[in-house]
Amino acid sequence: MHKPLPRLAILASGRGSNAAALMRACRSGLVPAELVLVLCDRPGAGFLAEAAAQGYPTVVEPRQGRSREAQEAALLAQLQARGVGLLLLAGYMRLLSAAFLAAFAAPVLNIHPALLPEFPGLQAGERQVRAGRLVLGASVHQVDAGMDTGPVILQGSLLAQPQQSEATLLSRLRTEVEHVIYPRAVRLFLDRWAADGV
Ligand code: GRF
Repeated sequence: MHKPLPRLAILASGRGSNAAALMRACRSGLVPAELVLVLCDRPGAGFLAEAAAQGYPTVVEPRQGRSREAQEAALLAQLQARGVGLLLLAGYMRLLSAAFLAAFAAPVLNIHPALLPEFPGLQAGERQVRAGRLVLGASVHQVDAGMDTGPVILQGSLLAQPQQSEATLLSRLRTEVEHVIYPRAVRLFLDRWAADGV
Protein backbone atom coordinates (compact mmCIF):
# COMPACT_ATOMS: atom_id res chain seq x y z
CA MET A 1 0.00 0.00 0.00
CA HIS A 2 1.22 3.51 -0.84
CA LYS A 3 2.13 5.84 1.99
CA PRO A 4 -0.20 8.89 1.97
CA LEU A 5 1.38 12.08 0.64
CA PRO A 6 2.43 14.65 3.25
CA ARG A 7 -0.21 17.34 3.76
CA LEU A 8 1.03 20.85 3.06
CA ALA A 9 -0.28 24.33 3.73
CA ILE A 10 0.98 27.68 2.44
CA LEU A 11 0.67 30.86 4.51
CA ALA A 12 1.28 34.18 2.75
CA SER A 13 0.47 37.86 3.14
CA GLY A 14 1.31 39.75 0.01
CA ARG A 15 1.93 39.46 -3.70
CA GLY A 16 2.07 35.67 -3.45
CA SER A 17 4.54 34.91 -6.24
CA ASN A 18 6.28 32.27 -4.10
CA ALA A 19 2.90 30.83 -3.15
CA ALA A 20 2.11 30.56 -6.86
CA ALA A 21 5.46 28.86 -7.55
CA LEU A 22 4.76 26.34 -4.78
CA MET A 23 1.26 25.64 -6.11
CA ARG A 24 2.76 24.97 -9.57
CA ALA A 25 5.34 22.65 -8.04
CA CYS A 26 2.66 20.67 -6.20
CA ARG A 27 0.63 20.36 -9.40
CA SER A 28 3.60 19.24 -11.48
CA GLY A 29 4.71 16.67 -8.93
CA LEU A 30 8.06 18.38 -8.29
CA VAL A 31 6.85 18.65 -4.70
CA PRO A 32 5.42 15.23 -3.86
CA ALA A 33 2.80 16.40 -1.39
CA GLU A 34 -0.87 17.22 -1.17
CA LEU A 35 -1.50 20.95 -0.86
CA VAL A 36 -4.56 20.98 1.40
CA LEU A 37 -4.80 24.65 2.42
CA VAL A 38 -3.76 28.10 1.20
CA LEU A 39 -3.91 30.58 4.07
CA CYS A 40 -3.60 34.34 4.05
CA ASP A 41 -3.93 37.16 6.57
CA ARG A 42 -4.99 39.78 4.02
CA PRO A 43 -8.45 39.63 2.44
CA GLY A 44 -8.38 40.06 -1.32
CA ALA A 45 -4.75 39.04 -1.88
CA GLY A 46 -4.36 38.20 -5.56
CA PHE A 47 -2.92 34.72 -5.19
CA LEU A 48 -6.06 33.57 -3.33
CA ALA A 49 -8.06 33.80 -6.53
CA GLU A 50 -5.37 31.85 -8.37
CA ALA A 51 -5.37 29.18 -5.64
CA ALA A 52 -9.15 28.91 -5.67
CA ALA A 53 -9.16 28.69 -9.47
CA GLN A 54 -6.81 25.72 -9.17
CA GLY A 55 -9.16 24.06 -6.71
CA TYR A 56 -7.12 24.58 -3.54
CA PRO A 57 -9.07 25.41 -0.37
CA THR A 58 -8.34 29.02 0.64
CA VAL A 59 -8.94 30.66 3.99
CA VAL A 60 -8.29 34.22 5.20
CA GLU A 61 -7.50 34.69 8.87
CA PRO A 62 -7.06 38.47 9.14
CA ARG A 63 -4.81 40.14 11.65
CA GLN A 64 -6.80 43.31 11.85
CA GLY A 65 -9.05 43.68 14.86
CA ARG A 66 -7.61 40.64 16.65
CA SER A 67 -4.80 40.00 19.09
CA ARG A 68 -1.83 38.02 17.84
CA GLU A 69 -2.89 35.16 20.14
CA ALA A 70 -6.40 35.08 18.68
CA GLN A 71 -5.16 35.19 15.11
CA GLU A 72 -2.59 32.45 15.71
CA ALA A 73 -5.22 30.30 17.45
CA ALA A 74 -7.40 30.66 14.35
CA LEU A 75 -4.49 29.71 12.06
CA LEU A 76 -3.70 26.70 14.23
CA ALA A 77 -7.30 25.52 14.19
CA GLN A 78 -7.34 25.69 10.37
CA LEU A 79 -4.09 23.74 10.10
CA GLN A 80 -5.12 21.10 12.61
CA ALA A 81 -8.57 20.66 11.07
CA ARG A 82 -6.87 19.64 7.81
CA GLY A 83 -4.13 17.53 9.35
CA VAL A 84 -1.33 19.71 7.94
CA GLY A 85 2.12 18.20 8.51
CA LEU A 86 4.28 20.89 6.89
CA LEU A 87 3.63 24.64 6.76
CA LEU A 88 5.31 26.83 4.13
CA LEU A 89 5.56 30.56 4.77
CA ALA A 90 5.69 32.53 1.55
CA GLY A 91 6.02 36.21 2.31
CA TYR A 92 4.09 35.99 5.58
CA MET A 93 4.79 39.36 7.14
CA ARG A 94 4.65 38.46 10.81
CA LEU A 95 6.83 36.39 13.13
CA LEU A 96 5.09 33.26 14.40
CA SER A 97 5.27 33.03 18.17
CA ALA A 98 7.12 30.31 20.07
CA ALA A 99 3.75 29.26 21.50
CA PHE A 100 2.30 28.78 18.00
CA LEU A 101 5.32 26.76 16.84
CA ALA A 102 5.18 24.54 19.91
CA ALA A 103 1.43 23.96 19.54
CA PHE A 104 1.66 23.25 15.79
CA ALA A 105 4.43 20.74 16.50
CA ALA A 106 5.23 20.17 12.80
CA PRO A 107 7.95 21.77 10.67
CA VAL A 108 7.54 25.27 9.26
CA LEU A 109 9.72 26.48 6.35
CA ASN A 110 10.27 30.04 5.10
CA ILE A 111 11.88 31.78 2.13
CA HIS A 112 14.06 34.80 2.91
CA PRO A 113 15.50 37.17 0.30
CA ALA A 114 19.16 37.08 1.43
CA LEU A 115 21.98 34.66 2.05
CA LEU A 116 21.35 34.02 5.75
CA PRO A 117 22.83 34.62 8.25
CA GLU A 118 23.49 37.87 6.39
CA PHE A 119 20.62 40.37 6.32
CA PRO A 120 17.99 38.84 8.59
CA GLY A 121 14.77 40.82 9.08
CA LEU A 122 12.68 43.07 6.89
CA GLN A 123 13.66 44.58 3.52
CA ALA A 124 16.54 42.12 3.23
CA GLY A 125 16.49 42.10 -0.58
CA GLU A 126 16.71 45.87 -0.73
CA ARG A 127 19.45 45.91 1.89
CA GLN A 128 21.66 43.43 0.03
CA VAL A 129 21.21 45.35 -3.22
CA ARG A 130 22.00 48.67 -1.51
CA ALA A 131 25.07 47.15 0.15
CA GLY A 132 26.42 46.70 -3.38
CA ARG A 133 26.61 42.92 -3.25
CA LEU A 134 27.60 41.36 -6.58
CA VAL A 135 26.19 38.02 -5.53
CA LEU A 136 22.57 38.35 -4.47
CA GLY A 137 20.88 35.39 -2.88
CA ALA A 138 17.94 33.89 -1.07
CA SER A 139 17.57 31.17 1.54
CA VAL A 140 14.99 28.57 2.46
CA HIS A 141 15.20 27.78 6.15
CA GLN A 142 13.31 26.03 8.87
CA VAL A 143 11.46 28.45 11.12
CA ASP A 144 12.19 28.75 14.81
CA ALA A 145 11.02 31.46 17.19
CA GLY A 146 13.84 33.84 16.19
CA MET A 147 13.97 36.33 13.33
CA ASP A 148 15.21 34.24 10.35
CA THR A 149 17.47 32.20 12.61
CA GLY A 150 16.39 28.60 11.87
CA PRO A 151 18.65 26.12 10.02
CA VAL A 152 19.15 26.79 6.31
CA ILE A 153 17.97 24.05 3.94
CA LEU A 154 18.95 25.52 0.57
CA GLN A 155 20.36 28.76 -0.82
CA GLY A 156 20.61 30.14 -4.33
CA SER A 157 22.15 33.21 -5.89
CA LEU A 158 22.53 35.31 -9.02
CA LEU A 159 25.17 37.69 -10.27
CA ALA A 160 24.04 41.30 -10.18
CA GLN A 161 24.79 43.42 -13.19
CA PRO A 162 25.81 46.91 -12.13
CA GLN A 163 23.63 48.70 -14.70
CA GLN A 164 20.48 46.97 -13.46
CA SER A 165 18.06 48.91 -11.27
CA GLU A 166 17.11 47.83 -7.77
CA ALA A 167 13.63 46.90 -9.00
CA THR A 168 15.07 44.70 -11.74
CA LEU A 169 17.48 42.99 -9.36
CA LEU A 170 14.72 42.32 -6.81
CA SER A 171 12.48 40.93 -9.51
CA ARG A 172 15.31 38.71 -10.80
CA LEU A 173 15.95 37.54 -7.24
CA ARG A 174 12.36 36.39 -6.93
CA THR A 175 11.93 34.76 -10.33
CA GLU A 176 15.44 33.37 -10.94
CA VAL A 177 16.26 32.34 -7.40
CA GLU A 178 13.33 32.21 -4.97
CA HIS A 179 10.80 30.52 -7.25
CA VAL A 180 13.43 27.92 -8.15
CA ILE A 181 14.91 27.12 -4.75
CA TYR A 182 11.73 27.07 -2.67
CA PRO A 183 10.10 24.08 -4.40
CA ARG A 184 13.48 22.30 -4.53
CA ALA A 185 14.06 22.89 -0.84
CA VAL A 186 10.62 21.51 0.01
CA ARG A 187 11.37 18.48 -2.13
CA LEU A 188 14.72 18.00 -0.41
CA PHE A 189 13.11 18.38 2.99
CA LEU A 190 10.37 15.87 2.18
CA ASP A 191 12.87 13.37 0.76
CA ARG A 192 14.97 13.56 3.92
CA TRP A 193 11.84 13.29 6.02
CA ALA A 194 10.71 10.17 4.17
CA ALA A 195 14.20 8.67 4.46
CA ASP A 196 14.03 9.23 8.21
CA GLY A 197 10.80 7.23 8.21
CA VAL A 198 8.46 10.09 9.14
C1 GRF B 1 9.90 37.28 -0.94
O1 GRF B 1 10.97 38.10 -1.30
C2 GRF B 1 10.29 36.37 0.19
O2 GRF B 1 11.64 36.01 0.17
C3 GRF B 1 10.00 37.21 1.41
O3 GRF B 1 8.84 37.95 1.07
C4 GRF B 1 8.78 38.10 -0.34
C5 GRF B 1 7.45 37.59 -0.75
O4 GRF B 1 7.21 37.77 -2.13
N1 GRF B 1 9.83 36.39 2.58
P1 GRF B 1 5.95 37.08 -2.81
O5 GRF B 1 4.72 37.54 -2.01
O6 GRF B 1 6.13 35.60 -2.70
O7 GRF B 1 5.92 37.56 -4.22
